[in-house]
Amino acid sequence: KKTIADVEVAGKRVLVRVDFNVPQDDSGAITDDRRIEAALPTLKALLDAGAALTVMSHLGRPKGKISAKYSLKPVAERLAALTGVTVNLATASEEDPLGIGTVTPAPGAIALLENTRFTDAEEANDPALSAKLAELADVYVNDAFGAAHRAHASTEGVATVCKAAGKPCVSGLLMQKELDYLGGAVINPARPFVAILGGKKVADKIPVIENLLPQVDTLIIGGGMGYTFVKAAGFEIGKSLLDADSLEFCKTLLGNPKIALPTDCVTVSEFSNDAERITVSVEAIPADREGLDIGPDTAVAFAKIIAGAKTVVWNGPMGVFEFPNFAAGTKAIAEALAAATANGATTIVGGGDSAAAVELLGYADKMSHISTGGGASLEFLEGKKLPGVEALDDK
Ligand code: 3PG
Repeated sequence: KKTIADVEVAGKRVLVRVDFNVPQDDSGAITDDRRIEAALPTLKALLDAGAALTVMSHLGRPKGKISAKYSLKPVAERLAALTGVTVNLATASEEDPLGIGTVTPAPGAIALLENTRFTDAEEANDPALSAKLAELADVYVNDAFGAAHRAHASTEGVATVCKAAGKPCVSGLLMQKELDYLGGAVINPARPFVAILGGKKVADKIPVIENLLPQVDTLIIGGGMGYTFVKAAGFEIGKSLLDADSLEFCKTLLGNPKIALPTDCVTVSEFSNDAERITVSVEAIPADREGLDIGPDTAVAFAKIIAGAKTVVWNGPMGVFEFPNFAAGTKAIAEALAAATANGATTIVGGGDSAAAVELLGYADKMSHISTGGGASLEFLEGKKLPGVEALDDK
């Protein structure tokens, strides 16, 4: 896809879609601003080139209703602090939910529209909203990789209208970086190529397993989803997570030489950080206990596979890493990826929980790339086309 480097933006009105959907605490304070940070190179490059910026994003799921809770106000404040540039936040009203008429873009400042989801027209990909947004643009830039799997007015819709009007539609630098890393891994990886999948439900990962398995050298499976494989192999899993609907699918993968599964796990009798931990073989999980983490033998075996890899993609934690007593397995994987990175391997962490784990455990700066997309990175690894990307101009 074309990027901002391929277009002339000096003196132009540039409309930029970013993903500022950041986590907030109950008071509305932003608890993790990595997505804002990640968009800064694009915004700075456009400002430096003399563009007049209008920036837009969704935040949370306000379901088409205007509310203070989902206002981009905290985001506007953080963006101003991080850039040192004046950010003029639009004012939402029933007639103009994004506040388009309340801000005027000007070079050297950022006009920030209100939450794109303050109207149902966004998620409905309503052509009327797309047309209204397209009027704000001489050039449209999509830097919202995290929202690229959504065909919404501010992603796919506006790009389609702009394109039809002959206006350039290009990717931002973050979008480009995400596509380079994830695409490079999936399309032409340096080998051995190892993928690591974890998280709770097998069903959520079936499309990604089906897409990646033919391409990887080894597929490591751990975390909550691992117990359904243990059950599929005919063993007791006690109170561990079971995705009963996926048992038959798991059975088809047992014995596949490319797949590495846990051999031991850390169990508890109650779901609590302080519960007594007993490590057992996955073939001997007591009926009254549940596994909350991979065991030490598994961690060593997985780390050894990762140590031999040239490309690693990781999506999904190995256990309940939010409980410090059950973070060891996830930490061992993060550590193995960090070592692999230092040895010249390309290591990519999918967004969502795995990105949060890597951050929490202190490995964020030791990976080649941590995706800002949760659902989007998963859909990319499933081999799906992302509508927000597809709508952009080809090189
Ligand atoms: C995300 O957080 O994955 C993106 O911002 C998309 O949000 P959504 O799942 O509400 O569409």
